[in-house]
Amino acid sequence: MIGRSAQLESIIGQVDAMCALAHARNVLFVTGEAGMGKTTLLRTLEERLSTRRGPGAPLVVSTECSTPLLGQDVGQVEALEPWAELLERILRHDGNPGSKKEMVKLLSSVAVAWCHCVPVVGGMIGSSIETAMLVKEHADEKEKAASPEQMFQQYINFLGKASEAHPLVLLLDDFHWADTSSTNLLFAAARHLAKKPVLFVIAYRPDDAASSRGGQGHPLLHVRNELGRYSLYSDVVVPKLTTADLGGLLRGRYANYQTNDAFERWLVERSGGNTLFITQYLNTLEEDGIISENTGELKARFDAVRVPNSASSVVEERIRRLDDDARELLRYASVEGATFTVGVLAALAETPKLRLLSTLRMIGEKHGVIKSLGKQRIYASESTTYQFTNVLMQRVLYESLEDEEREELHARVYRTIRDDQTQVGDTSSSVVGLAVRLAAHAATPEERHYAARLLLEAARASWTRCAEEETLGVLAALGDDLDGLEAARLVFNEPSEREVRELQGEAALLTGLVHKFRGRHALAIESFGVGATRFDAAGLPTRALEALMRRAFTYENARRYEEALAYSGETLTRAEAQGDRRVHAAMLNNIGLALAGLGRVEEALKHQHASLALREQDDDLVGQAVSLGSIGLALFSLGRNDEALAHHQRALALREELGDRVGQGYSLTNLANVLASSGRLDEALAFYRRSVEVRDSCGDVVRQTDSLEGEARLLARLGRPADAIERLEQALRLREALGDPRAEAAALVRLATLVLEQGDASRCRRLVQRAIALASEGATGDEARALLGRLPVETAAEPAPTNGGSTHAPAPGAAFSTATTPPPRHAAEPAEPLPWLVQAAIWVFDKVERR
Ligand SMILES: Nc1ncnc2c1ncn2[C@@H]1O[C@H](COP(=O)(O)OP(=O)(O)O)[C@@H](O)[C@H]1O
Ligand SMILES: [Mg+2]
Repeated sequence: MIGRSAQLESIIGQVDAMCALAHARNVLFVTGEAGMGKTTLLRTLEERLSTRRGPGAPLVVSTECSTPLLGQDVGQVEALEPWAELLERILRHDGNPGSKKEMVKLLSSVAVAWCHCVPVVGGMIGSSIETAMLVKEHADEKEKAASPEQMFQQYINFLGKASEAHPLVLLLDDFHWADTSSTNLLFAAARHLAKKPVLFVIAYRPDDAASSRGGQGHPLLHVRNELGRYSLYSDVVVPKLTTADLGGLLRGRYANYQTNDAFERWLVERSGGNTLFITQYLNTLEEDGIISENTGELKARFDAVRVPNSASSVVEERIRRLDDDARELLRYASVEGATFTVGVLAALAETPKLRLLSTLRMIGEKHGVIKSLGKQRIYASESTTYQFTNVLMQRVLYESLEDEEREELHARVYRTIRDDQTQVGDTSSSVVGLAVRLAAHAATPEERHYAARLLLEAARASWTRCAEEETLGVLAALGDDLDGLEAARLVFNEPSEREVRELQGEAALLTGLVHKFRGRHALAIESFGVGATRFDAAGLPTRALEALMRRAFTYENARRYEEALAYSGETLTRAEAQGDRRVHAAMLNNIGLALAGLGRVEEALKHQHASLALREQDDDLVGQAVSLGSIGLALFSLGRNDEALAHHQRALALREELGDRVGQGYSLTNLANVLASSGRLDEALAFYRRSVEVRDSCGDVVRQTDSLEGEARLLARLGRPADAIERLEQALRLREALGDPRAEAAALVRLATLVLEQGDASRCRRLVQRAIALASEGATGDEARALLGRLPVETAAEPAPTNGGSTHAPAPGAAFSTATTPPPRHAAEPAEPLPWLVQAAIWVFDKVERR
């Protein structure tokens, strides 16, 4: 490979080390500016590795992140799409049908939440009845992930298992266009799979990454730093071509090339060693007849040719030199975006697909301005896909169109995408990209209305992936679209007010859910209020009630119990009037929770029992489990432990019947807590163990660490400190991979406390210092310093870092200790997941509020 053999060999060396499990770093960043040859390097690597056979041969799969579309960064909102594609390719690649079935089975057992992201799973339904049944069974269950961490962990569990069959090399190109969730998943996966045969090769442009997100920088840069903390990545910089490399390139290109040192030196200097510049410029010289296509002999003085002064101007120059037909075709293509499909272009140019395919291949070969990405699913169905070799090329072509041409072409793109979608039917796995692209081409009120509905569907799909930022991104696009519709409605009376209000209501409701999940209660309450108003204006009382119910839940979550009581009561009255028993039962339970929060536990129990009775009459098993859990918690707080146990047992049985593993995790820890407080420590221990296992199996990693810590606490009380320490070490490893320094610091302090009690002051000191480095502020920092203070003075080699003027007392009961019985933990219900991240946020919020 010209000019990159050292880089190629270095990567292959790392692949070999990974296959032999002798690698220390599992992320490889391939960097270089546009046109340096990153993609070419990745493709060559893929080709080289794909010739390997045998059980030790790695499985190599690759994907690239979506190019930006005019006015809308598609990649940024297509949450986890690159990873979903890799997953699909892993499933497809496995040639052996037997193992393919195994893979799908694996996917549906450890990564159910991903089943609906991967069309191949649906596609396999035809291939084997058994697999079809299996997938259907799990897909029907719709076990949605409850948090991004769980979504990630399921993927990680899948990769871990899949890598037992063969080592995995995952190539992700153009990562400077990746969405935030994908970037976070990279971090979590790299951390968790550090000891597994999995290698991540990530190509990106450092300059684009730095200027991304409106100049704030791509989240990749942060992840890079974090990975650096654990020495997990290495860099491969794609170098500039040297004069010697260029000689090789020219000899490869021109059969009878005669070395021309002056020319080579000049070209390397002018191009900055950029391969795109060089290859494009040689094309220009050939077309102008300045260089012979056979001997590479220069027929005129090369420096007499007009010389572009950058890779981008060489691009513009290329476009000027396209023949009329090719330029016209590519101008049409530019309307679709930097990536375009043969399906759409055929409709735009009114050309048969077959002819178009050969024309595009020729343009690609002759001019090098576009390159094929093979068959891809950009819209509903697959189509051969091309990409401009440079985004700039598309911009220049697009700008060269007349306004009227553009309008007509956008309308055609819109119709083609829409027709395709109508024909395919099920587009659930690709709806986000489809919606965002369709919206970019919509113009008439009718088109915008359709796009708005699809955007709503896309936002929901994004939210089932627990992708917060991307969901809000799609909702923002939907908001713009709806503003446009509102204006259209006033002018054309179309679409109807009812239709617009309904969409506004749904958008507000979903916005509220996202905010609530992240603990932004005030914003959530506001959104739910707006949602209810819009639904009422649309004449949709059932939906309005849904929004009001969510608002009442949020008040309770925010511990604004008086308001929770008032709003739940109001909503309950309305639910009764509308005959909505589901909301009625939910509000009874919510009133119970609010009353319990106010210390009125007896009254709370009355409401919760009423809620349970309603839910039993209606055969609402999910609801019953929730009511039973709340009753159990209330009874526990009254010290009626036996009754509490009975209720949690019933909740657990229901959740087992429902296959709800996240819910089972809650019931199991609730049972363990009650048993522990009744002094039945061995039984409690067994329940903690089961909760660790069930949370592990569904990737509920945040709560798994809670369970591990609970287990450790109990082991310490049982006089088994070594086992306790081992559990805390496991929990710490999980925390490290979650990338939250505050939570990691807290885990370190817990471990340090126990280690100190075992008399190992020097290990304690190391752990505490790590904790302080991660979180010197706040309660954890205070605890850490208090712990340092307890260490024997003579071993104090270094002074403890101080926290400028902090006067907080150590938080009581927060430290891990064998001496104190932990206060009963009021586990939240699974319908209202409150991960540690949120708890941390609430903590900070409280602190600021109280100031
Ligand atoms: N080692 C190489 N030898 C010859 N041509 C190359 C080499 N690497 C890249 N090219 C050419 O340079 C152009 C840009 O390469 P590409 O891999 O797409 O760059 P990047 O992905 O870094 O933007 C392509 O036309 C490619 O064919
Ligand atoms: Mg590239």
